[in-house]
Parts: sequence; C-alpha cells; structure tokens
Amino acid sequence: MQLFIDSADVAELRAAAASGLIDGVTTNPSLIAKSGRNMKEAIAEICSIIPGPVSAEAVATDVEGMLNEGRYLARIASNVVVKLPLTENGLRACRTLSDEGIKVNVTLCFSAVQAMLAAKAGAYFISPFIGRLDDKGEDGMELIHDIRQVYDNYGFGTNVLAASIRTPEHVKQCALAGADCATLPPKIFAQLYKHELTDSGVAAFLKDWASTGQSIL
Ligand code: G3P
Repeated sequence: MQLFIDSADVAELRAAAASGLIDGVTTNPSLIAKSGRNMKEAIAEICSIIPGPVSAEAVATDVEGMLNEGRYLARIASNVVVKLPLTENGLRACRTLSDEGIKVNVTLCFSAVQAMLAAKAGAYFISPFIGRLDDKGEDGMELIHDIRQVYDNYGFGTNVLAASIRTPEHVKQCALAGADCATLPPKIFAQLYKHELTDSGVAAFLKDWASTGQSIL
C-alpha cells in the first residue's frame, strides 16, 4: 500500500520524506490555509521534495472554473494531481481533465456509488473520507471495503486513496481492505513505527549487550 502525507507544511513533509517511505502528498484548501503559504509556491516546493503524486485542490465550483484552475495547477509541476470535489460539476470537469491527460483526485467521497461515478468519470484517485464518516457515527472503513469490491467487480482502474485517517488502526484496516494508498497526517505516520514491545525489546537487548563489555566496531 502506498503511503501519502496529508499536509502542506514543507517542514513536516521534508521530515517524513527523509524516511524514504513516502509515496505522495495530499493537500486541500484547509491545509494550504493552515500553512500560511502562497498556494502555487507551496505546491511547487512540495513537488520538488516528493517526486510522487502531489494533490492540489481546485476551489471553483463551476465546470469552467474547475477546468481553468485544474489546467493551471497541473502546469505547476509534472507530478501535480488536480483534486476536485465529488459534485456533478466536479465529475464533469474530471472527465474533461482526464481526457486531456491530467490526473484527477476526486475528493470528499462518502459513498460507494459516488466512487463508482468518479471511476466512470476517469478519476485517477478516489478519496473516501474515513474519519469524517466515523465522526458522524457511521463506519468509514465499510466504505473502503465497499469501494474495493465495486471497483474489483467491474475492473475500474481508479486508485483508492483512503483519506481522513485518524489512527494507525485505520491504516491497518485500509491495508486489509485493499486500499491502494492511504494519506496520513504526519502525526499518524510517526505513530506507525511504534510498538511498546519494540521499545522494551531494544532496551533489554542494549542492557544485556552492555553486560558483555563488548563493542561491535
Ligand atoms: O485531505 C483530505 C482528508 O484527509 C482530510 O482529513 O482529518 O480533515 O477529515 P480530515
């Protein structure tokens, strides 16, 4: 499963990229606002840090506006993926941009039928939001399973990019459900390394090693 970082903070992204484990980045208007950066400059810098897909979101709500913004964003760098919302206009713009060879990440997906429409519109990624469904008492992970099944039933090539991830358990469940990618806040990515038995195991090995008086080098 590919791991993306959900952030527009270049310091956070550089730190995560140093792991060698990061395959891409997702941003959204809220994350750009939080970064305090000019969007074009931030996206260009992020694209130079991470060679994989970097999602940059259009904010127009009409088709023509989405097309203009999408084409502009796609020119920032060759690894930009244009993010569009799962609205009727978003999917119309998705069809046109995809036909032009521009990769589109259809975002704010909350149902399997929405995901089916995005696939039919040529989306490169579909972004189902797990945490926001959980927040309203629904089962976000069920959506990942449902989309995987719908896509596999019909051979849709759209990549399932699980988003709105809140816990390492979400990441595990996404991997079990066959999500192609998951986009994680940096804090959750850092937590993936952690296990108390790893920490106590390292401490015990070091203590026993010290008792030998040896050094490897
Ligand atoms: O970037 C889209 C998504 O990951 C947002 O997550 O935590 O704002 O629901 P969240």
